[in-house]
Amino acid sequence: MHTDLRSDTVTKPSKEMKAFMMDAPVGDDVFQEDPTVNELEKFAADYFGMEAGLYCSSGTQTNQIAINVHCRPGDEVICSKDAHIYFYEGGGIAKNSGSSVLLLPGNRGRITAEDVRGGIKDPNNPHYPLTSLVSLEDTMNRGGGAIYDFEEIKAIRKVCLENKLPLHLDGARLFNALIENNIPPKEYAAQFDSISICLSKGLGAPVGSVLLGATEFIHRARRARKVMGGGMRQAGIIAAGGLYAMKNNIERLKVDHQNAKYLGSELEKLDWVEKVLSVQTNIVVAKLSDSVDVNALIAKCAEKDIHFMAFGEQTIRMVTHLDVNADNMEYTLSVLKEI
Ligand SMILES: Cc1ncc(COP(=O)(O)O)c(C=O)c1O
Repeated sequence: MHTDLRSDTVTKPSKEMKAFMMDAPVGDDVFQEDPTVNELEKFAADYFGMEAGLYCSSGTQTNQIAINVHCRPGDEVICSKDAHIYFYEGGGIAKNSGSSVLLLPGNRGRITAEDVRGGIKDPNNPHYPLTSLVSLEDTMNRGGGAIYDFEEIKAIRKVCLENKLPLHLDGARLFNALIENNIPPKEYAAQFDSISICLSKGLGAPVGSVLLGATEFIHRARRARKVMGGGMRQAGIIAAGGLYAMKNNIERLKVDHQNAKYLGSELEKLDWVEKVLSVQTNIVVAKLSDSVDVNALIAKCAEKDIHFMAFGEQTIRMVTHLDVNADNMEYTLSVLKEI
């Protein structure tokens, strides 16, 4: 049974999603004349109570554009040492925006208001880089899908406001966090100046992310997107997949969380699994005992058409999504139990 747990980005568009995409009206989005892109941007902005949205090719692009708008060369971004914007975006903060980063330790990638307060440099001391942005990630990828405590986010927001600092969210898996903890999207989004959401992860669209913020911020982001070569033409054909995903696939993320929690709890029972990080959403991270050859395990499972990834030392990651179901969990566990 084909079971791909490498990432929630591996999903294929459903028949219904493809039909919706084929029928989407399109136009030249660089002229802002693509009706489907315009509808998606408005839908996403309204969903989160933000003023405006900008459809982009990827979550890396939305994050990098946001940083580019918030920061000048020589400025500093505060984030977790495990943040996707730092760890997995090819040095983009330095390359695209000439900015440096202050990396905070965090707990499964979640930083605290106190750490942020301690990290902000005195803007009147010319020795220091100018702190220009604080960036959070929710859920936290390298933290195994960990969700922020909303009260901590509010406390971080307070520190940012006191220091006149914008707060950005890498919300590649924000829908997972909101659905799991039942947090109203608008109340959550009100804490941030800019939010990147991904449509091509748990929601199952083939392409795209939306950057959300105030009208003036998105105006500047549109320029940054063009400069980075991200201006697309009849993009409505792919944006339609995102629109379909937002309208149909948010609630069902709970099923992915149930599958991941079940997988995690059963993995924990295997004697060669040392520890499973508590599963909060759709990501399962398991530390294996030293006797296990991780690469051999991955190769053996691949022979049975089960796919997952190594995730640091003696550690594996499995991610649930809309193209795997309870049967895939049972199949995976039955194979792992045999090994
Ligand atoms: C937390 C997080 N942010 C951003 C991204 C980047 O998204 P993309 O692959 O669309 O560039 C990812 C991708 O997995 C991610 O996990």
